[in-house]
Amino acid sequence: MALAAVAGCSAVLVVAAALAVALPEDEAPQGEVPALAAEHGVDLGVAVAVEPLLWDGGYRDVVTANYTSVTAENTMKWDSVQPERGEFDWSGPDTVMDFAERNGLDVRGHTLLWHNQQPAWLAGGSFGPQELRQIMREHVGELVGRYEGRITAWDVVNEPFADEGAQLRENLWYGVLGQDYIAEALWAAHEADPGARLYINEFGIEDGGAKADALYALAEDLVERGVPLHGIGFQSHFVHGQVPEDLAGTMRRFTGLGLEVAVTELDVRVPEPATDAELADQAAEYRRVVEACLDVAGCVGVTVWGVTDGHSWIPEWFPGYTAATPFGEDYRPKPALEGIVEALARRPAPVAS
Ligand code: XIL
Repeated sequence: MALAAVAGCSAVLVVAAALAVALPEDEAPQGEVPALAAEHGVDLGVAVAVEPLLWDGGYRDVVTANYTSVTAENTMKWDSVQPERGEFDWSGPDTVMDFAERNGLDVRGHTLLWHNQQPAWLAGGSFGPQELRQIMREHVGELVGRYEGRITAWDVVNEPFADEGAQLRENLWYGVLGQDYIAEALWAAHEADPGARLYINEFGIEDGGAKADALYALAEDLVERGVPLHGIGFQSHFVHGQVPEDLAGTMRRFTGLGLEVAVTELDVRVPEPATDAELADQAAEYRRVVEACLDVAGCVGVTVWGVTDGHSWIPEWFPGYTAATPFGEDYRPKPALEGIVEALARRPAPVAS
């Protein structure tokens, strides 16, 4: 009877009921990372998924004990938020926001314009510039506006460059609006939440190269024009053994423009089966990335992509790779977490004189 009643409810009601019952029970012991991160004034974040947030206390405990912010892994993407034109589904985003706020965690918003995870009506529609501009402004206005003042930073444009090379990606927005779709989206987000830090988020730029150069030129142009761009997100989906030596150097180029930077989607994937030696090396790689952020004055934080290896996107998207996050499938910390702690612990924040 009760189950039938729940099944008949809207998703929003189910979510609200689950939150009211489940979340207050958690009292995870605090790990070392949040306090250390706070000492340095940096964020240590993690990407979270809605289902385990609702139903898995162990998952919630890993998040609250070890991180200072969360990013919605999928539920703030266009296909989740506006699956049909004009129909918004806030159940997932509200769950993430409620969870974060109940636990004193900051939230990074991810993401507004991206070529992936677009609903069919958008990806398959044929729109002229005026209509598409209006669709973009409505989506950005609704989503950013709903959480105005509660989201630290938004990934406004995700992956605007082609997978490799220096060309802008020929996505829906570029095709119809031209390259200034990026400035238009930034302005729309700024209008909806003037306090939010607005980012371009990109992959394959961490080690410099043509794509990083092109992003730099774009960012420089936007800054010069006074467009509200505040940060560059370095996704940082690394392969074990290929973590760049000079991530800090690449970051400094962008902070030289007066922008902040963040590592937004860190993981380090290891070929299967991951050996103890590889996991020890992976710890050093995690440490190196966090150290790079601490070494750059304008780096505001590091977000890890996935709470445990069992929740990571890696096995599905990169078959043959595994073990990319700092927590195992058994939810226990791996050496990678120690790498993060070492980076934070060995470099105390400078004492103010
Ligand atoms: C990934 C999610 O982790 C997966 O669950 C989903 O199936 C695909 O997207 N760059 C991004 C993220 O900006 O949004 C992607 O997240 C990973 C790559």
